[in-house]
Amino acid sequence: MTVSSAPGKVYLFGEHAVVYGEPAVPCAIERRARVDVEERADDHVRVQARDLSLDGFTVEYTGTTDDRPDVDVPRPLVEAAMGYVDAAVDQARDAADAPDAGFDIVVESDIPLGAGLGSSAAVVVAGIDAATRELGRPLPPEELADRAFRAEHEVQDGQASRADTFCSTMGGAVRVEGDDCRTIDTPSLPFVVGFDGGAGDTGELVAGVRRLREEYGFAADTVATIGDIVRCGATLLREADPDAPPSETLLGELGRLMNFDHGLLEALGVSSRSLDAMVWAARDAGAHGAKLTGAGGGGCIVALDPTPESRTALRFTPDCEDAFRAELATDGVRVETGSGDTADRGDESESSR
Ligand code: MEV
Repeated sequence: MTVSSAPGKVYLFGEHAVVYGEPAVPCAIERRARVDVEERADDHVRVQARDLSLDGFTVEYTGTTDDRPDVDVPRPLVEAAMGYVDAAVDQARDAADAPDAGFDIVVESDIPLGAGLGSSAAVVVAGIDAATRELGRPLPPEELADRAFRAEHEVQDGQASRADTFCSTMGGAVRVEGDDCRTIDTPSLPFVVGFDGGAGDTGELVAGVRRLREEYGFAADTVATIGDIVRCGATLLREADPDAPPSETLLGELGRLMNFDHGLLEALGVSSRSLDAMVWAARDAGAHGAKLTGAGGGGCIVALDPTPESRTALRFTPDCEDAFRAELATDGVRVETGSGDTADRGDESESSR
């Protein structure tokens, strides 16, 4: 049995624009998805998912996903979660040249699904890592990131950048511009996350921005301007001392850029009332800046605030279901050890159907 975990992320800047070749800076955070993979003697795949902000479920199917049985949880939720697991399994089989490999898979995650914190990328990265290791063919990080990107790209109908999967694989802060992906040294930024309890449909939101961009030159300019904001922010980060706490000046400048970025994302139609309410709650509480993170439509915002004020204000904001401080995750994907971690497989929280 092999267990790997990979972190979620927040976007400091650049979601959506990154889909069109502009740069983005996502930062991995200490909220992880953990995937536990055990090779089977047959070609079946059995998946048990827990803690994915939805009821746990178990599905079992043979080599092709068409054989998947009905389960008693909303179909779209199962499809969403299973699509990523399927794609990860396909990539692992291909990488290990083992097309008929079967697996028992348990997915656990403390990253809310579809909420802008990179849950799907973390599951795909950890899943491919654990499955290829289980088959005796561990992948170097660059290949793992590439295969995870291909899996997301396929599930999201070609509408995915490399940002989420590269960040989850490598950890820390990264800069992604088209195929050019690199890690960057940054000071540890004081992220606060607010979560409205909801989720957005990444495919629909990306398609909406694409339509606007094709219809209006000013929407295309808006996307390009987000790219300018990211370049500005990346320069500030590059010039900062990664080993010192971030100065007030740096936080102030980054925060201003985050606010600008949020305004443009709002103009592109990917914010929501609850995201805006949380952004304003954090700003009113003294955050240096706040913006939505990820595809938008619902889910999470990220604020920069070294004090407890934004988190407290968010907790008293009716639109906010949860607020927490998110530490930068310096580890990307990693193998988890310790048999105690996996001893509870199949406990009563599993709802096997
Ligand atoms: C989703 O987490 C981020 C988007 O930019 C899509 C992508 O980069 O694949 C909206």
